[in-house]
Amino acid sequence: MDSQHSQRKNEHISLSEKFYNEYSTADFEKIRFIHHSLPEISAQSISMDTKLGNIELKCPFYIEAMTGGSKLAGELNEKLSKIAQECNLAIASGSESIAIKDYKTANSFANLRKYNPNGIVFANIGANHPVENAKKAIDILNADALEIHINAVQEIVMPEGSRNFHWIENIAKIVNAVNVPIIIKEVGFGMDKSTIKTLQEIGVKYINISGRGGTNFVNIENFRRKNKELNYLNGWGQSTVESLLEAYEYHNEINIIASGGIRNALDIVKCFALGAKAVGVAGPILHSLIKNGETETIEMIKEWQQGIISIMTILGCKKIEDLKNQKLLLDLNLQNYVNQRNIK
Ligand code: FNR
Repeated sequence: MDSQHSQRKNEHISLSEKFYNEYSTADFEKIRFIHHSLPEISAQSISMDTKLGNIELKCPFYIEAMTGGSKLAGELNEKLSKIAQECNLAIASGSESIAIKDYKTANSFANLRKYNPNGIVFANIGANHPVENAKKAIDILNADALEIHINAVQEIVMPEGSRNFHWIENIAKIVNAVNVPIIIKEVGFGMDKSTIKTLQEIGVKYINISGRGGTNFVNIENFRRKNKELNYLNGWGQSTVESLLEAYEYHNEINIIASGGIRNALDIVKCFALGAKAVGVAGPILHSLIKNGETETIEMIKEWQQGIISIMTILGCKKIEDLKNQKLLLDLNLQNYVNQRNIK
């Protein structure tokens, strides 16, 4: 019988599917590339290998943090890790807080390593956990990196959520004590420059800006409330594109990861043009797995990989890192954001 915490994990899965909207937007349509008619390149010469700081990725996008902690979540993690292995994708775990409270649930997370023994796996935990728990989360998965999620909006809307958000000192402790890369990660509300600056000042080198426009935890947690009164927060935060613009002045010093509302290969390529070093995809992969199954999800991911190569060919870019030199056009709305926020 699943515990109350496990029940919440199952609700996150079913509600993210209920609210999945393939037309939601993270503002990618507000930017476009300038087309050049002489690419002078052949598709075979293009490589998708890339480096996220010290982590070598065979594919520039990966399966972002979702689940673990219940029977259903364990089964999904088994399937997700097999998909990751088949497609050469890194994969991030859902929050392992539940496994630290109740070690019986650890296997549902460990599936990510069990069925994907040689892949890149990221552990995941909340920002209020002591160093000891961060180390446990890494050990459960023999993880290559640790994601620490910062999710104030989700907690506020979550009926049983935390109301204390003193995280900076604790994050600094974990960064100093742990010997795998630490990725500080939002959960779909985006980041601003000052957040990134503060994180940089305490030694953080990897940041996932996880922006608005895809999975929306206001919708998910508000649905779980008895009185559904916090729905007015469902447009809160910066979109993924706005967050990447906020992060732009840091992209040479900090490994910026994009996630939130990625819907196709062109969105992924645009993230690299905006300075990202890797791209995380959560909702669309879960949606495809639940709706269409493992085989079709593998096909979808392979199409995205092929799509990235096709776009890089048109752009004349041999390597992922070449994409950041591409010129972009912003629409008036986004240009207005850039002006008001003093983004250079
Ligand atoms: C999430 N996400 C998430 N993030 C995190 O750091 N820890 C977690 O436990 C979870 N749990 C979770 C469950 C489910 C069902 C979903 C769909 C998502 C957030 C996720 O990693 C990502 O930041 C956002 O979902 C935005 O990306 P997408 O879904 O728009 O691609």
